[in-house]
Amino acid sequence: MRDSEFEFIRSVVYERSRISLGPDKRELVSARLGKRLRATNLPNVGAYCRLLQSAGAEEEFANLIDVISTNHTFFFRESVHFDFLRDKAVPEFTERMRGGRATPFKVWSSACSSGEEPYSVAITLAGVQPPLSWHIEATDISRRILAKAAAAIYDEETVARVPPALVRTHFQRGFGPQEGNYRVKAPLRERVTFRHLNLLEGEPPFTEPFQVIFCRNVMIYFDRTTQEELVGRLARRLAPGGYLFVGHSESLTHIRHDLRMIRPAIYQKPFGS
Ligand SMILES: C[S@@+](CC[C@H](N)C(=O)[O-])C[C@H]1O[C@@H](n2cnc3c(N)ncnc32)[C@H](O)[C@@H]1O
Repeated sequence: MRDSEFEFIRSVVYERSRISLGPDKRELVSARLGKRLRATNLPNVGAYCRLLQSAGAEEEFANLIDVISTNHTFFFRESVHFDFLRDKAVPEFTERMRGGRATPFKVWSSACSSGEEPYSVAITLAGVQPPLSWHIEATDISRRILAKAAAAIYDEETVARVPPALVRTHFQRGFGPQEGNYRVKAPLRERVTFRHLNLLEGEPPFTEPFQVIFCRNVMIYFDRTTQEELVGRLARRLAPGGYLFVGHSESLTHIRHDLRMIRPAIYQKPFGS
């Protein structure tokens, strides 16, 4: 890949997704573009750049962002967040709601990838006592990965991260062509809504505030200004007293925000704000 081609791809990706690809990402970009060259039958990156510059390249931009963004995820990743959800966020919410109008506990998994994160939330919420009414919104920029998330089918290795008793309760074993795969059962699937959303484009289409927002392992791609903008936007969607969970390598220390740090990677929107 020529310098000018890498620069072009970098700027297009930044413009479309605000993912900032440093010079250290050149190898990665080159490997990922290989997939798009094969899919589009183009001989080299130069031809691919010309395709992106042509009219009607809109769909290819989506494919490009898809191969560039990393979808790596797994069930119960950074498990302290799920413990905190069960032991702190839910009991506090239940206490606040006591005697009031029954409001569902709402969670937003804002870069949900292939669904392991929102389904880990679902498994956690399904297990709380006393039971509560809850709903999860799950969004991602990649339509391909969202289709996988909505299908909710995982192989044995992926499901091995889930404690066996919870696999028995919440997953169906596949048979025939699905032998070796597991599907999240309908009662959990029905309580998770998947939607396509670019976190950096406009205001998210939600009216009700969330008790918890997960925004994990996605901010690392964005520059500081973009991170600040994003955290502000997420904070506006939190209910007072609600929590924002970020990835453990994504401290908000260097950016301006109005949230209170509770623990590393856990922030709370103050009451009265
Ligand atoms: C590394 S995965 C993290 C998945 C999950 N949150 C976790 O921590 O395991 C990052 C996800 O962010 C998504 N993503 C990247 N840029 C995005 C944007 N601008 N808006 C929404 N999602 C984005 C990618 O498609 C990918 O699925």
